[in-house]
Formats: sequence, structure tokens, C-alpha cells
Amino acid sequence: MSGFLSSSVGKKYLMGLTGLVWAGFVFGHMAGNMTIFVSPDLYNQYGHAIVSNKILLYGTEAALILSLLVHVGLAINLTISNRSSKGIASSVKASGSKRTPLAAQTMIIQGTILLAFIILHLITFKYGEYYETTIDGVKMRDLARLMSEVFSQPPAVAGYVISLLLLCAHLKHGFGSVFQSLGLLHPSYQGKIKAASWAYAIVVTIGFISQPLYVYMMS
Ligand code: HEM
Repeated sequence: MSGFLSSSVGKKYLMGLTGLVWAGFVFGHMAGNMTIFVSPDLYNQYGHAIVSNKILLYGTEAALILSLLVHVGLAINLTISNRSSKGIASSVKASGSKRTPLAAQTMIIQGTILLAFIILHLITFKYGEYYETTIDGVKMRDLARLMSEVFSQPPAVAGYVISLLLLCAHLKHGFGSVFQSLGLLHPSYQGKIKAASWAYAIVVTIGFISQPLYVYMMS
């Protein structure tokens, strides 16, 4: 088992699985944030329900941290070993349909920018200003107020939109490679998997982008 996980196929497999943990979280996070369209109170109540459920909160956080560490560690490891093995072959560049798409070639760069985005995002929201509000007699964090403060600034909105477009490219390519790593990219499934990865990435990206834009327009 440890032999398989340290092989290059095993590493890609693990990268795919840890990426899937994040893909699932990102979808749930985007869907949950949609409560902001209903009302700031509902958004705060939703956030409060999540942080009050300690098992869900700590379980999710532990899975995310562990997956991120494995995903990033393997990304660096695979990039280094790919570069050293391509040293000789790189003089003969593939062309036409054999050429690796730009999104695939730049996964490590996209990932690095997304990691910076996640760190900044946590500093801004999770560890950001703590406003309090009372809804139906229950005291809770006023995250809607923080969101409105952050997204009333055009540079923050622009930064989010750009990062989320990058996330779209990363998710689209990542989703497709998960199935490749899991050995499911049989020629007859290829079209369906490609369509599903586009659909997933577009729904997540448009869903997320609509949130700062809406808050900006409302503030
Ligand atoms: C428009 C886009 C987004 C908005 C408005 C948003 C909003 C928020 C807010 C308000 C929190 C704090 C929740 C709390 O502390 O109770 C949060 C946490 C978080 N967000 Fe986002 N988010 C967005 C996009 C993203 C994206 C794209 C990712 C990852 C790629 C992400 C990853 C996280 C993580 C990991 C947490 C911490 C979760 C935890 O501690 O359990 N967010 N987000």
C-alpha cells in the first residue's frame, strides 16, 4: 500500500482524492452562501448554525487542513520530479492536439495563487472583525455586516472575481484529472466527464462571483 502511494500513479490518485474533499466543501460553501440573497439575517443564522455544530465544524476543518497539506505537498513533489524527468525530453515540444492545455501546464501556479487567496480569505472573514448581532433573541456573529464592509470596496470585489475565475480553471482541470487518476477516463466516458467538469466549475464560479457583486450593488 505504501509502495502504491509513493508511486507517481498513487500520488496522483491521492491528489485527486484530496482535491475532491475541497471540491465538495467549495460546492457546499458556495451553496450555503446563497442565503445572503434571501436576507442578511438568514446568512448570519446559517453561519451561526455551522459554527455551533462543533462536530461538523472541527471535522470539516480537520479534513480540509489534512487534504490541503497532502494536496500541496504532492503538487510540489510531482512538479519537482516532472521537471527533472522532462529535462532531456523538453527540447522536443509536443504540438497540435498532443500539446498539454495551458490550464494543465499552469496548475502549480494557479494552485499557489489560490493558496494565497485562501490564506487572505481566512484572515478577512474567519479571523476578521467580529461584529455581533441578535436575531430572535440569539446572539451571533454579524458576518453579513463584515461581508458588506469588505465588498463595498471595488478592489476587494475585483480581487475576488479574478481569484474565482482562476478557481474555475483549477476546478475544471482538477475535476477532469480526478477521473483520469481514478482510471475512469474510458474513451466512452470522456465527453460526459468533460461536460460534468465544466458544469461543476461554472456553477461554483458563477454562484460565488454573484455574491460579492450582489453585496457590492446593495452596499
Ligand atoms: C464569494 C466568495 C466567498 C465568500 C463570500 C466567502 C465567505 C466566507 C465567510 C464569511 C467565511 C467565515 C465563516 C465563519 O467563520 O463562520 C468563510 C470561511 C471559509 N471560506 Fe469562504 N467565501 C468565499 C469563497 C471561498 C472559496 C473560493 C474558498 C476556497 C477555495 C473558501 C474557503 C473558505 C474556508 C476554508 C473557510 C473556513 C471554514 C472553516 O473554518 O470551517 N471560501 N468564507
